[in-house]
Amino acid sequence: MSARPQSPVDEVVIAERDLPEVAAIEAQAYAFPWTPGNLRDSLRAGHLFLGLRQHGVLLAYAIVMPVLDEAHLLNLTVDPRRQGEGIGRRMLLCSMRVAATQLAARSMLLEVRPSNAVALSLYSGLGFAQIGLRRQYYPAEHGREDALVLRRGLP
Ligand SMILES: CC(C)(COP(=O)(O)OP(=O)(O)OC[C@H]1O[C@@H](n2cnc3c(N)ncnc32)[C@H](O)[C@@H]1OP(=O)(O)O)[C@@H](O)C(=O)NCCC(=O)NCCS
Repeated sequence: MSARPQSPVDEVVIAERDLPEVAAIEAQAYAFPWTPGNLRDSLRAGHLFLGLRQHGVLLAYAIVMPVLDEAHLLNLTVDPRRQGEGIGRRMLLCSMRVAATQLAARSMLLEVRPSNAVALSLYSGLGFAQIGLRRQYYPAEHGREDALVLRRGLP
């Protein structure tokens, strides 16, 4: 029996008109989401917004800030209804490739909550290693939470 064919997923660049879709996923995915204003400011500051679409529907996005020869991954989010299907891994690999080829970045940096086991597993599986700790970085339900700073070189 043949496997069910997968619907194609397109890699896209997200523009300002797409931000309501990003904001809707962001609000569902996080206890402390970026606001629509945060997203607009980030885009207008020149950060690269990448996305994955299937049948025109946004599944995931990544926001990358170039800093000299480093790419800072500011946000990586998959629609909660589609998490655990390999989409986050694909979005991260796409971000790494675009950062290396279009931004000429030699490394990628990101921050992650120590409590975010799924994200930590994704990052460590793709070769990110801890290089630092930012204390009390994130808002949390009770007070604040540290951020782990992870990095990996880009080919
Ligand atoms: C974190 C996130 C981007 C991962 O994307 P995803 O599509 O759910 O993950 P994938 O299906 O691509 O899985 C990638 C890896 O994550 C880990 N993972 C995924 N689901 C998991 C689960 N339920 N439990 C434990 N690890 C899991 C695994 O290591 C997996 O790799 P493997 O399949 O080789 O084992 C996504 O879950 C998300 O948007 N979460 C909310 C927002 C967030 O936390 N963003 C990251 C902020 S730093």
